Amino acid sequence: MWMVTGGAGYIGSHIVRALLDDGQQVVVVDDLSTGLMSRVPTPAHLEVFSILDTKQLVTVMRQLKVTGVVHLAAKKAAGESVDEPVYYHYENTGGMISLLRAMEAAEVKRLVYSSSAAVYGEPVDDNPLTESSPTEPTNPYGSSKLIGEMMVRDAAPAIGLNWAALRYFNVAGCGADDLADTSAANLIPMVLRAHAAGKAPQIFGTDYPTPDGTCIRDYIHVVDLAEAHVAACRLVSGDLAAAGPAAEALAAAGDGSGRIEAVLNIGTGRGSSVREVIDSVGRAMGEPLVAEESPRRIGDPSIVQADPALAAEVLGWRSRKVLDDMTGSAVSGMGWLKENGYL
Ligand SMILES: NC(=O)c1ccc[n+]([C@@H]2O[C@H](COP(=O)([O-])OP(=O)(O)OC[C@H]3O[C@@H](n4cnc5c(N)ncnc54)[C@H](O)[C@@H]3O)[C@@H](O)[C@H]2O)c1
Repeated sequence: MWMVTGGAGYIGSHIVRALLDDGQQVVVVDDLSTGLMSRVPTPAHLEVFSILDTKQLVTVMRQLKVTGVVHLAAKKAAGESVDEPVYYHYENTGGMISLLRAMEAAEVKRLVYSSSAAVYGEPVDDNPLTESSPTEPTNPYGSSKLIGEMMVRDAAPAIGLNWAALRYFNVAGCGADDLADTSAANLIPMVLRAHAAGKAPQIFGTDYPTPDGTCIRDYIHVVDLAEAHVAACRLVSGDLAAAGPAAEALAAAGDGSGRIEAVLNIGTGRGSSVREVIDSVGRAMGEPLVAEESPRRIGDPSIVQADPALAAEVLGWRSRKVLDDMTGSAVSGMGWLKENGYL
């Protein structure tokens, strides 16, 4: 039985479906602070409480014989984290402490953790980013994700934990209309929001050193991301049959105990510029979108792109979907977002 914390959220609900499709049993732990009960499909069991409640985590882990955790539950708005740093550390850093204590007590020894490209901060000349690129988060959200990785690395030998931290790049699209991203902070939701309000999408900065002058980011389809989690769950379970060629070596490396530890970038390795994203949304809508151009924002690096080679070598996983798949599914989800008051 896999416990998916944050399984009622945007990404978690896709992962729950992918795990169920893989034949796994799933219990979701979610406080529904941003998640939706309607996103948890019937075969999965839902427990509504905060992961800060260690005792309750232990009880559920023991009762349902949980063998591994996919840990997504967190607050994720980088901007908000600058205004509320203590709250972000309370929820995200505190959440990881509580989870590790519970896993230790209940002897659960497999963990897949939602980390983020935010751990890299604002890379200047380091592109594409590899897992050994410098980690210099520029906001409390990014710090909380990096501290989470550090805590897992520190705790793993004593607990006997097999673990993988997946550093997601820009997650986009949806696998079904009612699983659309309800948050407002990412580029594609911002373009949809502007369109719904009868406004032009905005481009901040057209003089970056990129082919069309706008910033480049690495967008990953949430369905591909969910598949990466299924592969990571197999990896930390020691099921290396479908894993990549480097998985055996990974298990043999480390402290000699055979435990698996992996930090992996999850992106496509192909960047898309802001203008390309807006054009792709326009194609999906069947009407070209004319953007409004504004000056650069402070702190936006020109290019943030993943080197996903290690994930391919270790997980045997590669992204399959392209930008038009992400924007197409996001545009398809607009009707659901409107009907439910998110647009
Ligand atoms: N969306 C992205 O582009 C992105 C990129 C990198 C990393 N991530 C990480 O992926 C994870 C999921 O993000 P998402 O986009 O699905 O966000 P989301 O807000 O849709 O999902 C988070 C889920 O966690 C739940 N939750 C939050 N705090 C909780 C707590 N204390 N106890 C129990 N449940 C709690 C929420 O109710 C929600 O269902 C997060 O850890 C986030 O940091 C997201």
